Parts: sequence; structure tokens; C-alpha cells
Amino acid sequence: MISFLSEQRFLVTGASSGIGEGVALLLNELGATVIGIARNVERLEGMKAKAKHPENVFLEQKDLTDDLAGLPQYVKSLREKYGKFQGMAYCAGIGNIMPLRAVELEAIRRVFDINYLAPVFMAKGLADKRNNNGAKTAMVFIASSGGVHCDPGMTSYAGSKGALISTMQSVARELAPSGIRVNCVSPTLIQTDMADEVSRQYAEGKYPMGLGTVPDVANMIVYLLSDQAKWITAQNYIIDCGAI
Ligand SMILES: NC(=O)c1ccc[n+]([C@@H]2O[C@H](COP(=O)([O-])OP(=O)(O)OC[C@H]3O[C@@H](n4cnc5c(N)ncnc54)[C@H](OP(=O)(O)O)[C@@H]3O)[C@@H](O)[C@H]2O)c1
Repeated sequence: MISFLSEQRFLVTGASSGIGEGVALLLNELGATVIGIARNVERLEGMKAKAKHPENVFLEQKDLTDDLAGLPQYVKSLREKYGKFQGMAYCAGIGNIMPLRAVELEAIRRVFDINYLAPVFMAKGLADKRNNNGAKTAMVFIASSGGVHCDPGMTSYAGSKGALISTMQSVARELAPSGIRVNCVSPTLIQTDMADEVSRQYAEGKYPMGLGTVPDVANMIVYLLSDQAKWITAQNYIIDCGAI
């Protein structure tokens, strides 16, 4: 059975909603301390209010795209505040479905900033040995099945997630000698705020087991963050009930 000690601290980005909220609550339920990061303080507080051990949940309001190059320094400042980290679940992200003819540079940049550049610079911060617990540190990044098998209209979204998957495989191999594990989890449509009515209609009939739910993804992420997965790194797990 997976369990954590309260001395094991995890950064969870996107903790105010959807999959990130689910991961934060599950890590906390299993004993870990969670530092939940997002922009919306009210929703972060809502997450904390649901926690089994709220005394082990800490909240940080942050727009991760404000100063991308400064993110390693941001991780350092969090380490100075809370102590070294056991790992991170990077769950922040935005969706974007748009045909190629409508794609504009600024929109692509917005998607890449939060879905690709911010996780890369957060990883850089956490990989610094002054900020992590050394061997057994683990990071999990939510990519998307769209990063591997993409539908039409995913120019920027699929690009950002495909880039994230490739980059994290390289990072994982770079960090493996120091015992730090890095994996991606790539769901298809999961019932969260991101999966709006349009995408639900689009997905109708595509999923033999129905739409995915937050625990379907959160359980996998928490497993990969735990010592039970101590020999697993540089992987990308697609969670799609066999739909692709
Ligand atoms: N739901 C799906 O069908 C699905 C499928 C495949 C992959 N994914 C991926 O799963 C991840 C989580 O998605 P979700 O479904 O849980 O979506 P969600 O409910 O919309 O949650 C997205 C989270 O990202 C945070 N966020 C967005 N922009 C941010 C920024 N600039 N700075 C800091 N935090 C930011 C949001 O918090 P604030 O607004 O409070 O900042 C929120 O907590 C995303 O990377 C998404 O691409 C989702």
C-alpha cells in the first residue's frame, strides 16, 4: 500500500482544480505534505477545505508564466520556506483547440508558456540538489494523449504536450544516475473544467468505458511519485481506456 510521511513534501501545480486538486488531496490523504500552487486563491482554499490533513496543506498563489526564467529561483524560495522536496506533480495547463488557419503566434506562445516552458523551468529548479531529497525524488508531468496521437485542431496544444513528453524523457535519462525519476502521464478526455461541453460532445461514443474521472489519473500520478515505482523512469503512460 502507498503511504507517505509528512516530512515528504510535494509541489503540486494546478492544485486549485481538476486533476491537480485530485492529486493534492490524494497525496495528503496518504500522509504527504502538499504545497499547492495556482493563481486562484479561493479555489486553492476550497481544495484545502476538502483535505483529510489540512495542517499538511500549504497554498501558494502564483502565475507560473509571469517569470519563466525565474522559476528555478521560485522553487529555491519555496525550499527555503518549507524545506527540501520529495517531488512534484506538474498539473497546471490550458487546453486549446483551434484550426491551423486561426492559429496566431501569441496564442501558441500562451499555450507553450504554461504547458511546456513552465514545467521545464520548474523541473530545472527541483533537479537542483539543494532543493530535493536526492535519490528517490520523483517528478510527474501531465501531458496528454494528444501529444502522441492527435486529433485535428491541436496545433498548439499537441505541440506543447508532444514537446513536454520528449523533453521529460531526456531529462529523466539525465537525472537517472542521481536517482531522480521523471515520468509523464497522458490522459484523454477527463471530466474536469477543461473538458467543456464542446469537447464532451466531440468525444461522445469514442470511449468504450465512458469518460475518464480525476481519480483515474490521480492514482497513477501518486503511484509514480511513490517509492513503489522506484524503478520506473523516462516513461509516458497513456490513460485512455483503450480509446486510441
Ligand atoms: N481534462 C482533460 O480532459 C485533460 C486531458 C488530457 C490532459 N489534460 C491535462 O491535465 C492538466 C490538468 O488539466 P485539468 O483537466 O485538471 O484542467 P483544469 O481543471 O482547468 O485545471 C488546470 C489547472 O492549471 C492551473 N493553471 C492554469 N494556468 C496557470 C498559470 N498560468 N499559472 C498557474 N497555474 C495555472 C489552474 O489554476 P488557476 O486557474 O487557479 O491558476 C488549474 O488549477 C493540464 O495540463 C491538461 O492539459 C487534461
